[in-house]
Formats: sequence, structure tokens, C-alpha cells
Amino acid sequence: MGISLGLVGLGAFGSAFADLFMSHPLVDRIALCDREPERVQRFAEKESWKRKFNPRDAYASLDEICRSDLDALVIITQPWLHAPQCIQAMESGKHVYSAVPIIEIPDADEILEWCDKLVTTARRTGRHYMLGETTFYRPETMYCRRQARAGAFGDFVYAEGEYYHDVDNPHSNLRQVMQRRLASTAGQEWLAISAQYKARGVLSGPMHYPTHSTSGPISVMRAHAVKVCCWGYANRTNDPYYVEHGEAYSNETGFFQMSNGATMRICEHREIAVPGRETFRVYGTRGSFENDQWLTNAQATPLTVDEMRDPLPTEVLEAFREVKKTSDVYGGHGGSHAYLAHEFVDAVAHGRTPAINAWEAARYMAAGAMAHKSALRQGELLAVPDWGDAPA
Ligand SMILES: NC(=O)c1ccc[n+]([C@@H]2O[C@H](COP(=O)([O-])OP(=O)(O)OC[C@H]3O[C@@H](n4cnc5c(N)ncnc54)[C@H](O)[C@@H]3O)[C@@H](O)[C@H]2O)c1
Repeated sequence: MGISLGLVGLGAFGSAFADLFMSHPLVDRIALCDREPERVQRFAEKESWKRKFNPRDAYASLDEICRSDLDALVIITQPWLHAPQCIQAMESGKHVYSAVPIIEIPDADEILEWCDKLVTTARRTGRHYMLGETTFYRPETMYCRRQARAGAFGDFVYAEGEYYHDVDNPHSNLRQVMQRRLASTAGQEWLAISAQYKARGVLSGPMHYPTHSTSGPISVMRAHAVKVCCWGYANRTNDPYYVEHGEAYSNETGFFQMSNGATMRICEHREIAVPGRETFRVYGTRGSFENDQWLTNAQATPLTVDEMRDPLPTEVLEAFREVKKTSDVYGGHGGSHAYLAHEFVDAVAHGRTPAINAWEAARYMAAGAMAHKSALRQGELLAVPDWGDAPA
């Protein structure tokens, strides 16, 4: 038997996932929820949705949909809302998927408190939480995890991860993204809350959105950050983007000691002249991975996307192909969208813990939050908290 699923947040990113979740063969019933009614309407009226969507399953708020009898919610709201909304969903008995990050707010200590509350709530309620981290399901990350399971890296010695996304990137201009996120009712409410952080003198930084860069090395090595020192580059042009958002730094670079004895370098940069990059490299004593190549000290072997990605069940691919009406069924961010939708639905339907559970997600997030704290203290060496592995 399939599951019932509610989609909360049908803005730019939620809309990119809606058809995938709706059409998954293990989803029997789908619900829609957004505070902006026309965003619900766009999907409610689609012919392809009629067999799984009943107009009674259109909701105008998270509070309303949490009172429904749905099994699970997919929350793709603005980044400062995720953690409390996911906790509310689990407290109301629902499994929950969250867009990244766990939460993005200016205060690093509050981020860590939310990580703690999230893990505690997942443990106490027994509900599943999954972070929708796109890098986790890029082909290269799947390939590296397979190589790691086979022991092909030997001992891990070093890893690097970076998310370079200049604010003026023409493919995804962060000034416009922010304007759009602020344009809705939920967006307008944030203005008053963010003003309170500014009044308290709290300064944020790009390491508060760290999951694209940290998840590759951490998930491949199955190790967590133990200590960090980090430095920032502060914008020199008085750019209103950083001033208005209370960002101490436009770029932050952190260096970590890992629980497996390896070291890791992470960059979260928003002011850097590259076309945009989300990537990682992992090095071992026997084998290494960089730039879509498997390396040994004898040779470099280039890999294709199909060689690197894991297979998806045929019936899932067929269902996605039918609804998307394109040969590119995998979706954006390196083809990760299809895998994220499948992993969450399959985990809920089979009562198993999702791969990117609360414990795993907290590791990606805590590394960034502590890196930012270190940068604010001019590179002071700080310990990174850890909540352990997900219960078996
Ligand atoms: N590579 C990635 O993983 C990636 C890429 C892009 C965006 N994202 C994440 O996706 C999230 C969404 O981004 P977006 O650009 O779609 O934002 P958006 O502002 O376009 O959409 C958010 C939607 O959530 C709705 N919403 C907020 N609170 C609600 C509530 N209580 N009840 C019902 N609806 C509510 C808003 O009305 C809005 O329609 C962000 O958190 C972002 O970090 C991740």
C-alpha cells in the first residue's frame, strides 16, 4: 500500500519537486499547501494530478495541514522556517522532508539549538526526518559512497568541498532570489524578525548555508567534524546585499579535523568570480576522487554520469518520465531531484530511516555553524558538537 503526502511550500523550488512526489508509484494520495492560494491552484488544476489529488486536500497553512490525516509532509518553505515547521510536523505525527538547510538564521547558537531539538524530536516521536540535500544524490557522491563501502579509498586522508555562488551569478542571481522569497506573506513576516537580529548585533555568514559543501565529504567518509578554524573575507564595496542581510563575511573558508583522522577544507563563497560550483574531492591512501575521475597513484580513470549514479527502480523512472514528458527525468542539481523524492517516499513507505536523517543532517549543519563562530573569532579553534549516528 502506498502513502499519503502533503507538499508544503510551492514556490520556485517546491514547484520543481511537485510532479516527482505526486507521480511516485508509492504515493496514493497527494495534498497541496501554501499560504499563497494561486501557488496551490497551479497544481490543483493540472489534469495529470486528478487521479491522486482531491480538492479537499488543498490547505492554506502548515497549521491546517498538520491537523490532516496525511502520513508525511514535504516542506519546501523559506530557509529561516524549516526547523520549527519540521518539528511541528513530527509532533503532529507526520514524517517530514525538509529543503536545505536545517535552518538558516543569523545566530549560529540558535542553529545548533535547532539541530538539537530536531534530533531530540525525531528520536522521541519516532517520525522520520529527511534533509533534501541535493549534493548527496549527485552522481559523483553516489559513486564515492560505493567506492568507500568497497574500501577502495583505503584510509581517508583529506577532503575538500565548496559551494561557490556569487550573488550576481546570472543563472541564479541571489539578489533576485531573496527579493522573490520576501515577496510572499511569509517573506514579509521575516523582515520584522531579521530586524531583531540586527538590533542585537548578530552577524551571519555563508557558512550558515553549508550543506552543499559539507555533505559530500561527510557522507562519503562517514566521519564528522571534530574541530574547526575558519576565516572570512569581508565585502569591500559596502554592497547592500551583505549590509541588509547582516553578513559579517561574503566568503568563509574553514579547515576541519575529522573524526576519522582526516582533514577537510570547506569553502562557502558568495563573492567570487566563477560561474558557480558545487563540488567536492576526497583523497585516500589507496584511491582518490576528483573532477569526475577515480585516481590511484598509477592512473586516472575518467567516469561518465551513468557510471557514477546508482540505478533507480524502473517503475519509478517510468512514472517520472510520464509526468515530466522529457527524457531528463532526473531533474536539477546534477540529477539529484529524482533520487531525493524517491528516497523519502520509499523510506516512509517501508518504515525505514531515510539516508539523510536528522543525525546525518546535523553533522552537515553543525560544521558550518561552528565554522562561522570561529570566523567571527578570527579563526579561533573550536570544537564541533555531534549527535551521533541515527539509531539502528
Ligand atoms: N539545491 C538546493 O537544495 C536548493 C536550491 C534552491 C532552493 N532551495 C531551498 O528551497 C527552499 C525554498 O526556496 P524557494 O526559492 O522555493 O522559496 P519561495 O519563497 O519561492 O517559496 C517558499 C514558499 O513557502 C510558502 N510558505 C512559507 N510558510 C508557509 C506556511 N507556514 N504554510 C504554507 N506555505 C508556506 C511560501 O508562501 C512560499 O510560496 C529554501 O529553503 C531554499 O533553501 C534548495
